[in-house]
Amino acid sequence: MKALIYADKNKTEFTNKPEPDIICDSDAIVQVTMSAICTSDLHIINNSVPRAKKGVTLGHEFTGVVVKTGDKVKNLKTGDRISANCITFCNKCYYCKRGFINNCENGGWELGCTIDGAQAEFVRVPYADNTLTKLPDNVSYKNALFVGDILSSGYFGALMCEINKDDTIAVIGSGPVGMCAMMCAKYMGAKKVIAIDIDNARLKTAIEQNLCDYAINPHEQDAQEVVKSLTHGRGADGVIEAAGCDETFKLAWQIARANAIVGIVAMYEKAQILPLCDMYGKNLTFKTGGVDAIHCEKLVELISKGEISTDFLITHSVPFERIKEGYEIFKNKKDNCLKVAVTY
Ligand SMILES: NC(=O)c1ccc[n+]([C@@H]2O[C@H](COP(=O)([O-])OP(=O)(O)OC[C@H]3O[C@@H](n4cnc5c(N)ncnc54)[C@H](O)[C@@H]3O)[C@@H](O)[C@H]2O)c1
Ligand SMILES: [Zn+2]
Ligand SMILES: [Zn+2]
Repeated sequence: MKALIYADKNKTEFTNKPEPDIICDSDAIVQVTMSAICTSDLHIINNSVPRAKKGVTLGHEFTGVVVKTGDKVKNLKTGDRISANCITFCNKCYYCKRGFINNCENGGWELGCTIDGAQAEFVRVPYADNTLTKLPDNVSYKNALFVGDILSSGYFGALMCEINKDDTIAVIGSGPVGMCAMMCAKYMGAKKVIAIDIDNARLKTAIEQNLCDYAINPHEQDAQEVVKSLTHGRGADGVIEAAGCDETFKLAWQIARANAIVGIVAMYEKAQILPLCDMYGKNLTFKTGGVDAIHCEKLVELISKGEISTDFLITHSVPFERIKEGYEIFKNKKDNCLKVAVTY
């Protein structure tokens, strides 16, 4: 079968690999029907994910059809339409029992990183009963493409902020993850959502899609002052950092009001400075991390009921054979690209 592999730093190859088969009895084999390219794939390719194995098939955001199941798989059968979680998890270990599946002692972010992923025709999925979510008939592959990664990450970011009604939540980064965070913050009852990005086209999309109430470009406005003016001079009740650079890390705690939560979803490519002396007395809570994507069933249900939709994020599609073109479009944000769907 065809697969896109991470060959070496800044190098991918569209190559042939043998079709995967069941290795453990909790595995399933999935025929991929749609996959997406994620910023984390770019992080792997530019060598910022030390765990990523050279030669691994990329891809951890996908939908598909189950074509084979191991003997211990209970909830899935051949022919089931699924969306996949980017985290494979055993649901039995110390961390899984507490919902911290990102730290699963037997799984974690493996697909497309340490084991072959979904930018291929078929993929072997460990702990299939946990990792795959069945799709109801009214949810298409397109509708469910982002459930197990960026939508879960946005949901995670919003959850981290422990949103109360009446809260004003600022989301730094109006990229796909930031927009998912805005949508989830609204769903969780935030009264006002402020989108912050330096890309005006992305801010425009966030407004048009009704994801935010205000949009700020920090390169054109004093973001700290604008946030203050929208929050009785206090600052945001919660901040979700979904951009991932030095400037945005700093902005995140600067625009937070005293006693706020700063939820960091972004993955930084270098160390950040936390100048505690400058924030003394603000009594902030920082939460960080890779997504504990344990809400996939709920997210599919919300999509099925029409409460949330991520369809607008698919600005570009490419057939699988042209996936490398898809990477170029995504990496360079060509034609205001948000997400590229790879079709099979
Ligand atoms: N925690 C997780 O599990 C998890 C999961 C998925 C993605 N991520 C991370 O989340 C982050 C966002 O992902 P994405 O796919 O939306 O990426 P993206 O690059 O499309 O979005 C980042 C946005 O930040 C904006 N930005 C850059 N510099 C800025 C600045 N100085 N001020 C304001 N905005 C600025 C960009 O214009 C862009 O719109 C990435 O770091 C990604 O690796 C984390
Ligand atoms: Zn991802
Ligand atoms: Zn586990």
